[in-house]
This record gives sequence, structure tokens and C-alpha cells, in this order.
Amino acid sequence: MTGIRLEHINKSYDGKELAVEDLSLELKPGSFVCLLGPSGCGKTTTLRMIAGLERVDSGSIRAGGRDFDVPGKNLFIPPEDRNLGLVFQSYALWPHMTVEDNVAFGLKMRKTSPQKREKLVSDALAQLKMEPYRKRYPAELSGGQQQRIALARMLAVEPEILLLDEPLSNLDAALRLEMRSELKRLHARLHNTIVFVTHDQLEAMSLATDIAVMSKGRLEQYDTPMNVYRKPSTAFVAKFVGNPPMNMIVFNQGDIEPWMYKLREEVSARRSIAEPERINTIGFRSEDALVGGGNDAGRWWSQEVRLDTVLPTGPETVLSLMAGHFSIYLITGQDCTLTPGEGTVISIPYEKLHLFDAGGFRI
Ligand SMILES: Nc1ncnc2c1ncn2[C@@H]1O[C@H](COP(=O)(O)OP(=O)(O)O)[C@@H](O)[C@H]1O
Ligand SMILES: [Mg+2]
Repeated sequence: MTGIRLEHINKSYDGKELAVEDLSLELKPGSFVCLLGPSGCGKTTTLRMIAGLERVDSGSIRAGGRDFDVPGKNLFIPPEDRNLGLVFQSYALWPHMTVEDNVAFGLKMRKTSPQKREKLVSDALAQLKMEPYRKRYPAELSGGQQQRIALARMLAVEPEILLLDEPLSNLDAALRLEMRSELKRLHARLHNTIVFVTHDQLEAMSLATDIAVMSKGRLEQYDTPMNVYRKPSTAFVAKFVGNPPMNMIVFNQGDIEPWMYKLREEVSARRSIAEPERINTIGFRSEDALVGGGNDAGRWWSQEVRLDTVLPTGPETVLSLMAGHFSIYLITGQDCTLTPGEGTVISIPYEKLHLFDAGGFRI
């Protein structure tokens, strides 16, 4: 197993704006790391630098004791010598080659012996349950099957590191779920180090051992999925991860209502924060609020609200509520007995409130 260490990486394409800025990441051997963030935040650039398809401007990438890219020492290992497997969103199978020839292609390039090649191809196809299709051409396969072949082709060369760039985003929802399980099973069996790029927070939550959340070329948080969700380091992470997104009361924008100031005073007193003004944002998750009063008054913040709309999703119900002019989303497992326009009270334990300063950092 091979770990990867990125240290203080900077990268710009045009010499001006940085696509990746001062990025440091240590990927433990055998970890399944998701690079997560909105479009344009530098995920693909980071992956391509690990692959060696892009050079870093400054900083270093090392893996398994080898200097992948260290411009300061003029060291660079080309992509084909890094022992990695790559899969992109577009599977790029050769249309004129059968499934087995597609999977064998990389091995032929490496001049692997025909006997060994046959075994590696069969093993890789078996891993992805695609053996029955080995004589077919890509055009005779569904999108999901083509993506399986792309994965088999990657596995056949026995890479130490797997790099995947949004490999599931062209698949429909049911297939995507199936392929997520497939990838997780593969990882559990092979223990390769995986770097997986996605803009889908649910995908990252369900796959990763560690998530690196990026925004505008910078690392916002690098942590376990549960910590990213439960203890977001920044207001950006809090808002980006979770559906519905975290409810955010922001004090330097929009209309600030008296109940918001009161909440800020109360939470400051409880957390021994000397200057309440330091708190710029108060957030809480939809599932951490409940309709009705908390049972231990001192532990809960309660707020009068008015029901706006009810949005049933099947297993649970999303309630849209108004506190003054501020809209709050709340998830409940119970059926809603309120009618729109009706008043009620919601309660949230004080310890479930997330506080951020004006720089967006968690207090
Ligand atoms: N080949 C390129 N030439 C110039 N700019 C690029 C190139 N590739 C990416 N960029 C820019 O770098 C930034 C990061 O892009 P990218 O790494 O593709 O983000 P992501 O994969 O997170 O969507 C964006 O501003 C993008 O426009
Ligand atoms: Mg990308």
C-alpha cells in the first residue's frame, strides 16, 4: 500500500489565478479519499497533478518514498512510471476493440507475457462480474457496463493508486448507487489507495474514509465524513455538505431580527464567548431541531415559528418554517399535524448550534 503526500502545492494555468493554492494533504496508505467541492474548485487539477498529467508550479508530491513531482529539486516521475490507474467521467474505451482487448491494452503496452496477461484480464473482468461480455464491443454494452470495463481496464495493470475523476456522474441514479457499492467492495478487498473526485456530497459521504473539501483552489477541511458533517471547520463546509443545507443565520447580511440578536447573546453566555459580535454565523442542521419544546428548558433554545409548507419525501418530512422573515428547514420522521400558517415552537439543543466568525472559521 502506498500513501501520497502533497505539500504546499501551487498551480496556475495562466500564470495569474491559482487553480490550486497552498494545498497540503496526506493520504494514508489504503485510504479512500474523496476530493469534494463545487465545479471549478481545483479537484481535477489536483488529481491530474497526482497522476503526473500536470506539473506542480511549486511544492511537492511524494508517494511511497518516491518523488513524483518536486520542482524545487528538479525531480519528476512521468505518469506511466507512477504505477497508477486512471478512470475519468468519459470511459474512453476503444470502440474497435472487444472488451477483453480493451482490458488487455495497458498490459500489452507494458509487454506483459500472454499467459500473465490472460490471467490478469480474466481476474479484472471477474472482479467486476463482466466475464460473460469479454467478446463484445463497447457499443454493445450499457453505460454502466462500459464504466465497469473502464474500471476493469484500470485494475488489470495492478496499480497501487487508483485515481477516479467523477466516474459515476454519467450514470443514472440506480446504477450510480450500485457502482458505489461495487467500488466500496473493491476497496475493501484490494486496499489500494483511492483518490476519488466528486462534486456530490452524498457520494463523498457514502464512499470516503476521508474527505478533502475544497473551495476556490483551497482546502477547507480534511477529515472523516462524520466529522465533516458533524463538526464543519468552516461556514463553507457547513453549507456545502448536507441536504437540506444547514440553516444559517448570518449577521452581516440581510435583515437581522431581534430574536437573532437574542439568540446570539444567549449562546455567547453559554459558550463563555466574551464578545457576542465575534459570532457572524449561527448554523443548525435540519434534523437537530424538533417541533415543540425541549424537555429540559436550560439545554434548549426555543423559537416561535409559523409553518410555511410541508414537503413529504417518503421516509421523512421536510418542514419549511418561518421565524419572522427567516426561513428554516426542519426534518421530522413524524407525520405533520400542523396546517400551513399555523404557529408552533421549535427547539434545538444549544450544543447543536454551529458558530462561525466573520472569516468563516468555526468558533
Ligand atoms: N487546461 C486548463 N487551462 C486553463 N485553466 C484551467 C484548465 N483546467 C482547469 N482550469 C481552471 O482551473 C480551475 C480549477 O479547475 P478544475 O481543477 O477543473 O476544477 P474542478 O475539477 O474542481 O471542477 C478553474 O478555474 C478552471 O477554469
Ligand atoms: Mg473536474
